[in-house]
Formats: sequence, structure tokens, C-alpha cells
Amino acid sequence: MNAQKHLFQLPDHIHYLNGAYMSPLLKSVEEAGIEGLIRKRNPASIQPKDFFEGAEHLRASFGKLVNCSPQQVAIIPSVSYGMASAIKNLPVRPGRRALLVSDEFPSDVYSLQKWCAENEQSLVTISAPETREKRGETWNGLILEHINENTSVIVLSSVHWADGTLFDLAAIGARCQQFDVRLIVDGSQSVGALPMDVQAFHIDALICVGYKWMLGPYSLGLAYYGERINEGTPIEESWMNKSQAENFSRLTEYADGYAPGAARYNVGEFGNFISVPMLHTAIEQVLAWGVPEIQAYCRELTRPLAAFLRENGVWVEEEAYRAGHLLGFPLAPGTDGENVVKKLREKDIYVSLRGSSIRVSAHVYNTEADIEALVGALGSK
Ligand SMILES: Cc1ncc(COP(=O)(O)O)c(C=O)c1O
Repeated sequence: MNAQKHLFQLPDHIHYLNGAYMSPLLKSVEEAGIEGLIRKRNPASIQPKDFFEGAEHLRASFGKLVNCSPQQVAIIPSVSYGMASAIKNLPVRPGRRALLVSDEFPSDVYSLQKWCAENEQSLVTISAPETREKRGETWNGLILEHINENTSVIVLSSVHWADGTLFDLAAIGARCQQFDVRLIVDGSQSVGALPMDVQAFHIDALICVGYKWMLGPYSLGLAYYGERINEGTPIEESWMNKSQAENFSRLTEYADGYAPGAARYNVGEFGNFISVPMLHTAIEQVLAWGVPEIQAYCRELTRPLAAFLRENGVWVEEEAYRAGHLLGFPLAPGTDGENVVKKLREKDIYVSLRGSSIRVSAHVYNTEADIEALVGALGSK
């Protein structure tokens, strides 16, 4: 595929290599949001069905993106929220341990820590290997070793959010299935840019923000919850998730049951007239481009950067264990990382500092010129 910069509103002079922080808006997504905003000028035009229809379209488009039925999709405001629903419904199995990988995103860590403390389950963190050689492969191997008959659940990101290490979800999911281990994945840094298949990977819950690789607005995300928790307990009781909610004149005939599938895990007021059509429009564009094509485009773009770094003695994860769209590289010991980011910013180059690594993330709004600018700036230091 070719660069799609013309579909975005990014100013021409900036090199925005920071989609892992937040994506820019597609013009079409911006228009969908403006249309949604204007709708409330005249509430007489908003029908009861409008509270639900946009959400159904959104659940369907996410289902296509991650290969699940729309019924198993829930609309969430944040990863912390979606994670809370997944973790609240975990079975407590005495003697088994919960697993995390090191430096996982805090919304995932805090949720699992709390559940472990409340349920007297031990928590083990699988640290990244000290070695740089075959680091990704070794880390993946350690994860597989830790998943056994003593494991209750593993929570991890499909792509490590700080450095782009790829975790082999097919192998991890197969091993979880073998030992009846629940697999909860934070897809925030991959879904939309890297193929995801909740069925092939035997995922129990997949939780994603919408504002990064799905190119949506802030404060709206999506989750897949497997059928095993269709009868589970949500973290709040929204009238919108009950059966017969669409009949506004009979809302006080309080219902016992919930809408089917994972609908009970939808956040209250999930039918946001502004953000729901925005995220739906964005995902439809992602689907139209094709996720494998997006990933291939990003990999092509970041390959010369990886080569440049290696030539200059900077460690970069080997190709098979790094995502094409997100690449982290460590700074030399003693380097002031904040200053590196500031200096790049002065040249209109935007990246992130995560720990002691620089995180570069690319998408279809980027071109070779962005990578060349970064390589030039790093080379001229
Ligand atoms: C892997 C990952 N998960 C979650 C989030 C955001 O979490 P929350 O929606 O709880 O703010 C981020 C944000 O950078 C992230 O990188």
C-alpha cells in the first residue's frame, strides 16, 4: 500500500512518529464526530433506536477486526475499565499463580495485583531476559515455560507497549488451552496495526483502547469477552445493558436478564453520539486498507531505521520478535532521554521516551521522509 497521509489532517512540517502515544485523526473520522456533535442541536431528531444502532455497527466492525461475533464485543471507556470486568470474572483456583510480563502497562498490572491480593493468589512477573542476543525469543520461551498446571491466568500485551517486543500469541494461547489457563490480552498497541484473531489464539478477553492503532477518539475502547463469561458479573448495572432496554416507555418494568453475549460489560451510556460513529468510521477505514497491509507498510518504513541503529551499535530486537509499527531502542547509559526527545522535537520529530528507551511508532500517515528526518537527526547528534 502507499502512504495515506492525504487522508489525515497532520500539519505537513511535522514528523509524527508517535502513534503509540495517540493517533492523529482521519478527516473522515473528524467529520463523523462533527456530525454527531451537531445532532444534539436538535434532540427531537434523536430516537431511542439511535442509542443502540451506532453501537451495534461499532461492535460488528470490531468483531471483523479481531475475528469474533459482534455479540461478544463490549464498548468500554478505557483499558482499566475493560480489564476490571475481565479480571472480576476470573475463577479463583487455589494453588495456582497469576502471570504478568515485566514493565507491563500499569492499568493491567494494578487490576491483576488487586485481584491477587483479594483472592490470595500469588503473582509472578516474567522478566525480560538480561541478554540482548535473542532477547525476544528467550522471553517468549520463558513465558511458555511459566504457563503450566500451576497457572491460573496470564495478562499480557500482544506487543510490549514500551519497546515493541512481539509476543507469540498463537503459541501462548495453545499452551494456555493445554493447561486450562485464562488468557487476557491488552491489544491497545497492536489491534488495528497487527493481525489479531481471538479464536485462533484462544483468547479469553482482549481489551483495547480506541485512540491509538484503531485511529479513534480518546475515551472509547473495545473489548472481546469469550463466551465463558457470558453469565458473569459486570462492574456496574446500566439500564442500557438489560434486556428490553430499547423500549423506553417500559423501563420501569425492571428486567432480570441482560442483553445477550458480552453486552452486560458495555459501559453505561455506551451509545455516545459523537465518539461511537468516529471509532466506527475509523475501524471501517482500517478494514478497507487491510491490517496485514498496514503492518507490511509500517515494517518497510521502520526497517531502514533498524538498520541504521544496528550499524551505529545500537541494539534493536531482531525482526521476527519486533513489531513493524513500534520499535524501541535503548539509549546509551547516562544519556539524558528527556533531552534527546526535546532535541528531536525542536526538529519537529515526535517520538516517546519510555523508561530508558526511545519508542518510535509508524503508521500509514508516515512516509520515508519521516524516517529519514529521524535518522538524520540521530546521526547528527
Ligand atoms: C498497552 C496499553 N494499555 C493501555 C493503555 C491506556 O490505558 P487506560 O485506557 O486504562 O488509560 C495504554 C496507553 O498508553 C497502553 O499503551
